[in-house]
Amino acid sequence: MKNIDDFIEVTVDTDDEYKVIIGNDLLKKTGEILLTLGFKKIAIITDDKVWSIYKEELEKSLKCSNIHYEVLIFPHGENSKSVQNYLKGIDFLAENNYRRSDALLAFGGGVIGDLGGFISATYQRGMQFVQLPTTLLAGVDSSVGGKTAINLKQGKNLLGAFKQPKKVICDLSLYKTMDKKYFLDGVAETIKYSILSSKEMFYELFSPIKQDDLRLEYLVKRCVEYKAKIVALDEQDNDIRRLLNLGHTIGHSIEKLSNYSITHGFAVAIGICYIAKLSYVLNLITKETAKDIVNCIETNDLQTSADFTPEEIFQNSILDKKCEDDTITVILIQDIGSCVLKKISLLKWKQYIKSAMEANLD
Ligand SMILES: NC(=O)c1ccc[n+]([C@@H]2O[C@H](COP(=O)([O-])OP(=O)(O)OC[C@H]3O[C@@H](n4cnc5c(N)ncnc54)[C@H](O)[C@@H]3O)[C@@H](O)[C@H]2O)c1
Ligand SMILES: [Zn+2]
Repeated sequence: MKNIDDFIEVTVDTDDEYKVIIGNDLLKKTGEILLTLGFKKIAIITDDKVWSIYKEELEKSLKCSNIHYEVLIFPHGENSKSVQNYLKGIDFLAENNYRRSDALLAFGGGVIGDLGGFISATYQRGMQFVQLPTTLLAGVDSSVGGKTAINLKQGKNLLGAFKQPKKVICDLSLYKTMDKKYFLDGVAETIKYSILSSKEMFYELFSPIKQDDLRLEYLVKRCVEYKAKIVALDEQDNDIRRLLNLGHTIGHSIEKLSNYSITHGFAVAIGICYIAKLSYVLNLITKETAKDIVNCIETNDLQTSADFTPEEIFQNSILDKKCEDDTITVILIQDIGSCVLKKISLLKWKQYIKSAMEANLD
């Protein structure tokens, strides 16, 4: 069996530097990894689906390393990122006498990572935190970078904190048990990273990503490396980190308009298609490049358009956190592997959405 030193490691160079370990069958090594960090007592936050599949494997690994643990299981799904569950998490830690030096292990997808991360950020002004992402989306995106949040009735992610983990344990073999539609949400984010960072990676994605794909190690590594680089430059999301929102302003609007029946990744994929068309209309990229982006998204079984009007998409997009006064910062594509932030007036943004949606690539 592989030694833990043999897995791929990516360093995230934030104030408190940490490593993301990427590979197959890492769950079995969790106990060993936690011991190397000095943790002997951990609080596991997970969801019912993940726990029912992986309980035995994780417990076995922790017991082998003599790590004391307690588990708090939330129902799966976005609704779990609630104030009520946050308070349940805090109560659970206090009742079981957790100290700041103990670790909270978020074992699940982005929902559990965001909820668990926010609990760990605030309990006793911050306890230790480890991410064990179980979805592709969490592996390539949400488990790295330290953004944590829960939802309020007024909107998504409105209560949160920056909390970098001590380690991210990214076990690619866990994706095999995911429902395909959730896996595809992660594929959309992977395509996003390729457009932001690399032509080579982008054209690789013309062979659709599969749940047991041997290329996952390479793909996840490339996404995490890019995210780590950007997060190190702008940890608090004030500037260059906003590039990671490629396709997201329109995507969030589509998610909301569909009443969340179009999931995050699918909505982002549609947002990326409209941004590709807009970038073509603005003469930033050629028609061929715009077509390639739309084709890549289609080939990976994602959606490329939605049945909403430009006016509806515009109105919902300006409710987004990215709006300031009468301007909005949008991310445009200059080439595959190169995107740019552009601050524009809301009036212009409205025209841009219309021209993107009306653009013809034939
Ligand atoms: N913090 C950030 O930087 C950041 C970035 C992007 C997204 N997010 C957040 O991430 C969340 C979405 O994350 P997600 O797409 O991982 O969704 P999720 O956590 O809801 O997981 C999707 C579904 O897959 C199930 N699941 C998870 N792992 C599984 C496995 N290995 N096998 C079988 N089933 C499994 C879950 O139970 C759930 O039903 C959103 O709340 C979003 O706001 C945060
Ligand atoms: Zn996203």
